[in-house]
Amino acid sequence: MTITLVGHGYVGLVSACVFADLGNTVFVIGRNEDKLLRLKSGDPIIYEPGLEELLKKNIAAGRLIFTSSYKEAIPASEIVMTGVGTPPTPTGEADLTSVLAVAEQIGQNLGNHFTVISCKSTVPVGTNRKIKEVLDRVKPAHATFEVASCPEFLREGSALNDTFRPDRIIIGSDSKEAIDLLLKLHEPIEGERVVVGLESAEIIKYASNSMLATKISFANLISFICEKTGADVEEVLDGVGLDKRIGRMFLYSGTGYGGSCFPKDVLALINTGTSMGVDMTMLKAVDDINKKAQTNFASIIQSSAPGKNIGVWGLAFKPNTDDIRFAPAINIIKILLEDGYTVTAYDPEGMDNTATVFGDRIRYAANPFEAAENKDALIIFTEWNEFKQIDLKKIKETMSSPYIFDGRNMYEPETMKQLGFTYYSIGRKNI
Ligand code: UDX
Repeated sequence: MTITLVGHGYVGLVSACVFADLGNTVFVIGRNEDKLLRLKSGDPIIYEPGLEELLKKNIAAGRLIFTSSYKEAIPASEIVMTGVGTPPTPTGEADLTSVLAVAEQIGQNLGNHFTVISCKSTVPVGTNRKIKEVLDRVKPAHATFEVASCPEFLREGSALNDTFRPDRIIIGSDSKEAIDLLLKLHEPIEGERVVVGLESAEIIKYASNSMLATKISFANLISFICEKTGADVEEVLDGVGLDKRIGRMFLYSGTGYGGSCFPKDVLALINTGTSMGVDMTMLKAVDDINKKAQTNFASIIQSSAPGKNIGVWGLAFKPNTDDIRFAPAINIIKILLEDGYTVTAYDPEGMDNTATVFGDRIRYAANPFEAAENKDALIIFTEWNEFKQIDLKKIKETMSSPYIFDGRNMYEPETMKQLGFTYYSIGRKNI
């Protein structure tokens, strides 16, 4: 099949590489010529394990074509998928400017055959019908099309595996022809097929992300109680999560959820519900607790660290990505800088992006040891593997005072005590 992906961020580029690897010819449309040049040369621009290899392999096989021309890609494609951003507006609604602008360009360039326009971006309920209106308004007279909603559930850091082996594939459309074509495209991919209406597909995505965010905020709420009572949140959540109806996944407390999806999708669903007169108190609490998880951690550092010269391990919102969007580390470092702290940070992938936020207001270390050296305290924000079995004895010897504030509960409090650290972690029997 020949298809087009509009957008080359996480959703667009990963999907394009996966569909190309399955033997399809895939056009990828972008706007920025510099980025398109980098992509053509095999540079994925974003960091995602395995993506560069897959990109290079499929460019070499002639199955991936990067272009800024809708005229070149759209008439040649049976399916056009959109994976452009829906960033939050200052009031928390999803900004649909790019989604609708892209729909207009697709519509104007539709060929003389039937095309399915399938939206992979996370868009509020009703958006796909708006896309349909735009397409109807601008399309050439003889072009026929149908719209579908195929929300994407990939996680950064495991995006390829999530796309090759998703738990489910959601296909929302009013049109049997569109559904059949999308089922055919997804044939080689594992996972349950869930065929639903347009509105249901749109809401499934927001409901899934909001449910996962709710689990995390619930874990953080329990951690606040554990901290006040001497209970250990890891023991508590192990005990809770063993109930199969609840499960332990996404039930880890920490400094809160970040990234380009959970924070914005929770706010967008609050907005949708509120605009329809639904009381969204529950999700507002999820968002509030997430903010508290961050400010509580900052307060504990401010009240307990013996000095203001600190090292930081981890900047990305989670391991195996260079993404710092809405990362708790960034929010908390901002609070600490305003309070006069000096910060030296290390992250295996996230330092370049962080430099675009802080510039030289913080220092960047070449490795975790350098970040900790001569520091009054070490703060851990991201659970990268390379921190898990690091030589903590060596770390302790080089620090001015052996304080660790661990926002990801990476170590056992007892072991840390034996090593001579003053160790604070989330929701556990702390020092
Ligand atoms: C998420 C969804 O998982 C994915 O299905 C959707 O398509 C996009 O949004 P992603 O943002 O890549 O994916 O990251 P995810 O692994 O879900 O983690 C999100 C945030 O939650 C991270 O900051 C992570 O540290 C935090 N988290 C996750 C917790 O604090 N506790 C947990 O138990 C799990």
